[in-house]
Amino acid sequence: MLSPEERADLDRELADGFPTARSKSIDALKILQRHRRWVSDEALVDLEAYLGLSRAELDNVATFYNLIFRQPVGRHVILLCDSVSCWICGYEGILEALRERLGIGLGETTPDDRFTLLPMACLGCCDGAPALMIDEDLHRDLRPEGLDELLEAYP
Ligand code: FES
Repeated sequence: MLSPEERADLDRELADGFPTARSKSIDALKILQRHRRWVSDEALVDLEAYLGLSRAELDNVATFYNLIFRQPVGRHVILLCDSVSCWICGYEGILEALRERLGIGLGETTPDDRFTLLPMACLGCCDGAPALMIDEDLHRDLRPEGLDELLEAYP
């Protein structure tokens, strides 16, 4: 069931500029994910009722859009770019350093639920490769030795 806060955010943020229920679906999923960290089957049921779309339609949108998480994630999600510029400029060193520091590999979450590490296609800042995002924040020109300080900013 949608919480009062979730419903209020959906009502407010989807009030204008969306001609159809379908056009609201990505934003609605993002709003619910903001509240719950990820989009469970239960969340789809809640949005099914709210938007009047079928669960299958919502699941298709959620599955297509790779920033909608259909499995539990940690408090912070690291999206590590593995596209060509980052790969050439040191992706593997960054991945190895993250593996060492966090004790997890791609697709995994730390036991304390702090970080989930995921691969991501080009983040659009190839001139700052290698790059990653943590939550909404873009970090570029990464070096393995700078990762401790970077991660400390995400408790
Ligand atoms: S290849 Fe990594 S940001 Fe473009």
